Amino acid sequence: LRVAVLFGGRSAEHDVSILSASNVLKALDATKYDVVPILITRNGHWLVLDVEDGALPDPIPQTGTEICLVPGGRGRLFVIPKAGPPRELPPIDILFPVLHGLHGEDGSIQGLAEVAMVPFAGCGILGSATAIDKDVAKRLLKEAGLPVARSLTVRAGEVPAFEEVVKELGLPVFVKPARLGSSVGVSKAETAGEFQAALAEGFKHDEKVLVEEFIQGREIECSILEQVDGELLASVLGEIIPAESHGFYTYDAKYIDPAGAALSIPAQLPAEVTQHIRTMSQQAFRALGCDGMARIDFFVRPDMSAVVNEINTIPGFTDISMYAKALAASGIAYPDVIDRLIEHGLA
Ligand code: DAL
Ligand code: MG
Repeated sequence: LRVAVLFGGRSAEHDVSILSASNVLKALDATKYDVVPILITRNGHWLVLDVEDGALPDPIPQTGTEICLVPGGRGRLFVIPKAGPPRELPPIDILFPVLHGLHGEDGSIQGLAEVAMVPFAGCGILGSATAIDKDVAKRLLKEAGLPVARSLTVRAGEVPAFEEVVKELGLPVFVKPARLGSSVGVSKAETAGEFQAALAEGFKHDEKVLVEEFIQGREIECSILEQVDGELLASVLGEIIPAESHGFYTYDAKYIDPAGAALSIPAQLPAEVTQHIRTMSQQAFRALGCDGMARIDFFVRPDMSAVVNEINTIPGFTDISMYAKALAASGIAYPDVIDRLIEHGLA
């Protein structure tokens, strides 16, 4: 089976995607799969890379054989030649997008795969598109009766007065670009000055930002893996414990500082709270129209009430990432997760 692993991408999570993809490549069983790693460069070119023993070249080249996927082509890839006629590569059986953020996790690659008539692993167009947008996702979660943090959706040019924000949401507030991940562009604000700076930072990444109330709580996550028969497998819960020095689970705490955060799996919570969160994870997955996989992130307050923070349809697969670890703790090893995602994508 030829599996094209797509990674890198144009979003601000390009580097995170490379970390994720290198783990996915290691977990793809070479006796079963013929793996074609495709790097999407920061400016959107598709390059076929060589892998040796499942390991990506280091450093990752930014030039190479540029290819494109043919619309309606049943997985047909063509080399885009600098000169001469295009050359066809062997067709691929399934695309495995390991892209985070816009142009990858948002339904666009999934749409491209549909148009090119090639199966793909993971969540489809609708669930990808609803989950990537924190504003739309929240509205669907609320409509499904799931608890979310209070927030205001703000567009550039329509910024509410700081006093109004404080009246509505209290202090501090979190300011987040609506459609990014890995805490890129997220800041905490306590004062009017910090609020303005946080908005400026958020608007660098998106024309729509969310201003959210601060939830004092533990970060708890649940992995959902959909079986071929449609059953939603909810993993044991995992807890992220960010180091005090980072304040919250920032980009640096996630990927730069090796001591930035610790994972505790299974999360130490009362059994009925655990069960409730697993059930809410399945409900959130359905409410957003997801399929295949997603990681559902929560905040759990000291009184054990929980709010859904966000849904990631291509969760991180890095060494420190929760998605595969929580499934492993539930009895599904990393290579098995990959096999099941491929099986689901082909079904
Ligand atoms: N957006 C990152 C990759 C995550 O949620 O794991
Ligand atoms: Mg995220």
